[in-house]
Amino acid sequence: MLSVTLYDGTPLPVIGLGTWAMGGRSYPDPSQDARALKAIRAALEIGYTHIDTAEMYASGHTEELVGQAIQGFDRSKLFLTTKVRPPNLSYQRTHASIDGSLQRLGVDTIDLFLIHWRDGTPLAETFRALNEAVRAGKIRYLGVSNFDVDEMKESQDLSETPIVTNQVPYSITTRRYVTNGVIPYCQANNIVVTAYSPVEEGRLGVQKMLAEVAATHDATPYQIAMAWLVQQPWVITIPMSHNPVHLQQNWDAANITLTPDEMAQLEAAG
Ligand SMILES: NC(=O)c1ccc[n+]([C@@H]2O[C@H](COP(=O)([O-])OP(=O)(O)OC[C@H]3O[C@@H](n4cnc5c(N)ncnc54)[C@H](OP(=O)(O)O)[C@@H]3O)[C@@H](O)[C@H]2O)c1
Repeated sequence: MLSVTLYDGTPLPVIGLGTWAMGGRSYPDPSQDARALKAIRAALEIGYTHIDTAEMYASGHTEELVGQAIQGFDRSKLFLTTKVRPPNLSYQRTHASIDGSLQRLGVDTIDLFLIHWRDGTPLAETFRALNEAVRAGKIRYLGVSNFDVDEMKESQDLSETPIVTNQVPYSITTRRYVTNGVIPYCQANNIVVTAYSPVEEGRLGVQKMLAEVAATHDATPYQIAMAWLVQQPWVITIPMSHNPVHLQQNWDAANITLTPDEMAQLEAAG
């Protein structure tokens, strides 16, 4: 699997698993548990190692399902990302949020911990807690999500360890983090762009050109949309799927090699 390399040499695969809407959306929906567990385990069997979740997803229940699904898999080979939600960005609540995620995931260390998005809390207060948690070994790497360039620079100043990612919406049809300068800033500063909603939550429009490139590669248009993302420097993506066929297709998207001409055509199609 193609990967990007973090500052300490750790490889991060360009395809990870998203978990929004697994086991419920904003609130737990136990009727969805078996489906979610099956999907996460199917992804792990395929070879996915990076799982992206958040305390916000199903109010913590998605983290519990991830914790259950990884039982029996080698923890040292997995890379778990989770996020603190804005109401919890105060110093004390950030610490409580980290401890809550550790408990629900059933692990000693969170690989990557993100601020899900900003609220009015001074970033210095949140990073005081985050830096302490890194020093305590509860978190390996820090990152942010939905941050603009100024917020990223402030985070880089406040963090005692490098900010390894900004997780932002990015797809063939969603380019606002290119135009606001975030993606170029990440690429110029060796920061991973984690592209979320890479297939627009399953509603990606398929224009003629995307369909033609897909036919050339004997792939689906959604695979091409993801191949276009991860062939860009410093870009990884985290598609969510409950469907084992889609999980495999999304994984295989990293093996599709688009020509420079195809990359340019897709770039222009946005
Ligand atoms: N940081 C943030 O603020 C933020 C915001 C949004 C999302 N995220 C993260 O990013 C992850 C991905 O984003 P997302 O879940 O919003 O959207 P997404 O991955 O673009 O789309 C997921 C939807 O697309 C369908 N799908 C996936 N692969 C497919 C394929 N190969 N062919 C056809 N349909 C396919 C899935 O349906 P099936 O189950 O039928 O395959 C699912 O309904 C989330 O799960 C979450 O972890 C983060």
